[in-house]
Amino acid sequence: MPSEFIWRNGQFIKWEEATVHVTTHALHYGSSVFEGIRAYATPQGPAVFRMQPHTRRLINSCKIARLELPYSENDINSAIVETIRRNKHEACYVRPLVYRGAGAIGLEGRKNPVEMVIFTMEWGRYLGSEAIDNGVDVQVSSWRRMAPDTFASLAKIGGQYINSQFVSMEAHDNGFAEGIALDINGYVSEGAGENLFVIIDEVVYTPGVWQSILSGVTRDSALTILRDLGYSIRYEPIAREMLYIADEMFFTGTAAEITPIRSVDRQPVGAGKPGTITKAVQEAFFAITSGQKADPYGWLTLVRQPEAAD
Ligand SMILES: Cc1ncc(COP(=O)(O)O)c(C=O)c1O
Repeated sequence: MPSEFIWRNGQFIKWEEATVHVTTHALHYGSSVFEGIRAYATPQGPAVFRMQPHTRRLINSCKIARLELPYSENDINSAIVETIRRNKHEACYVRPLVYRGAGAIGLEGRKNPVEMVIFTMEWGRYLGSEAIDNGVDVQVSSWRRMAPDTFASLAKIGGQYINSQFVSMEAHDNGFAEGIALDINGYVSEGAGENLFVIIDEVVYTPGVWQSILSGVTRDSALTILRDLGYSIRYEPIAREMLYIADEMFFTGTAAEITPIRSVDRQPVGAGKPGTITKAVQEAFFAITSGQKADPYGWLTLVRQPEAAD
């Protein structure tokens, strides 16, 4: 659902006015970087979840893609909060996007202006409303993640998402909620837009950043929660067959939040329903994002400042 205002290059404009010219470089060559951030409804009003690491990753993606961003981390954080405030959201998805604009046609593109927008919209559960409670059915994709010397998996660069689209479209065509891609060596990498956790005998495995994954902010949040719950975590290559003998598996992502996986390639994961460790991570995660429990890690940024006490 569209909202009223979009922040563009430092100004607020109406949603309908935020258009681009057909010569926009990013339309042709995928020269954009973006973020996906959630703001949650809490008893203190809307709160942005982990804004700082998202903004930092946007800035880092710009560095990697060589997009010269004329805004500081503080500028971007203030613009995100102000966009949510102006659009009067209680909860929303926030999409900052930096892209090479219109002008010269040609691959190199650095003569084109760098533009930035931030828009917000209301958005429910990404993998379906049942997914968080019951888990999703997934397949191992026939598409691989990119080799390390081809694209930059740690950056959220628009053009790279063709790979994720292949994974996701194939999964949907085959009747699955999502696909898991292997890396160039045949080890497990990640979902089309989610990081993956695999649990066997109470040990938590997740692919390392060298395995063509995006270093997810929700992944980091789940790792923090798991460590504090006392679980041991191993960052090591996950063979495909480990997916078939796992006791539990779950996805993490801003869109997917913490989504249990109940089957892979039609084989049930564990008992075919969310397991104990997955549920413990979900509980801790949603307790913080809903503002129902204290936020021990300082992950929430309130959009409306509390009234000063007399
Ligand atoms: C390819 C990919 N992997 C993983 C993630 C999860 O990252 P995050 O938790 O920061 O949203 C995303 C979503 O941004 C993604 O696009």
